[in-house]
Amino acid sequence: MVPSNPIGVFDSGYGGLTVLKEIVKLLPEYDYIYLGDNARAPYGPRSFDTVYHYTWQCIQWFFNNGCNLVILACNTASAKALRTIQQNDLAKNYPGKRVLGVIRPTTEVIGDFSATGHVGIFGTQGTVVSNSYPIEINKFFPALHVFQEACPLWVPLVENNEHESTGADYFIKQHVDRLISQSAAIDTILLACTHYPLLTNKIGQFLPEGITLVTQGEIVAKSLVDYLKRHPEIEILCSKTGQRTFFTTDDPGDFNAHASIFFGEPLHSSHIQLG
Ligand code: DGL
Repeated sequence: MVPSNPIGVFDSGYGGLTVLKEIVKLLPEYDYIYLGDNARAPYGPRSFDTVYHYTWQCIQWFFNNGCNLVILACNTASAKALRTIQQNDLAKNYPGKRVLGVIRPTTEVIGDFSATGHVGIFGTQGTVVSNSYPIEINKFFPALHVFQEACPLWVPLVENNEHESTGADYFIKQHVDRLISQSAAIDTILLACTHYPLLTNKIGQFLPEGITLVTQGEIVAKSLVDYLKRHPEIEILCSKTGQRTFFTTDDPGDFNAHASIFFGEPLHSSHIQLG
């Protein structure tokens, strides 16, 4: 049973669970539904049009299930689909509903982590090519130097539970070296993909000393707390019975088996068919 007015949390797959985990720590009283579009993951290498089409389809599913507020816990969807959804689709079709992404809250604070003013970003190909991070960071920290590296194989490694394997080492080291070689002054690296927190240990093995790795879950959770305070008209619509319900567009057995690594506790999901 889906609760009446849950907060929706969306990702192409499992990665958004790393964000939901932090959100429920700070806001346990709300109801949440999570949807992983595992059948169509990864989104990273897909075109703007495809990511937009998939994301909007999923958001409408959330709306049809009672959500008034949906968090895109996916950088790729936030980079490639959020603007069109916020500016066109919501205004036209769902004026009372809200969709928030993960890029804005992160870019508002990322400069605070760096002493040198040189920040590295690991993201999917889609996120990096969109240039969303450099553009958004420039609004809040115009003096910051931003260096990006796309890591197309990292999401498949994580989705296939290969992130701790020795086979993963080559692909992790390759991208770490490429990012670091862009500037010796990088002292902060943002993991701008919600799957990447699972790679934190491996990335750390190949990083030079003294570089801070920043993950987004806590940043996004704090930002949601703040958003709900500033928007009582949305907050009042969110039901609060502490329920968490999970859906996947692929096999729920597989989802249950993998998802606990991301969420930190066992969970039970159901399958939905889109389109
Ligand atoms: N977790 C998504 C992100 O934050 C992964 C995207 C993908 O499916 O490639 O970008």
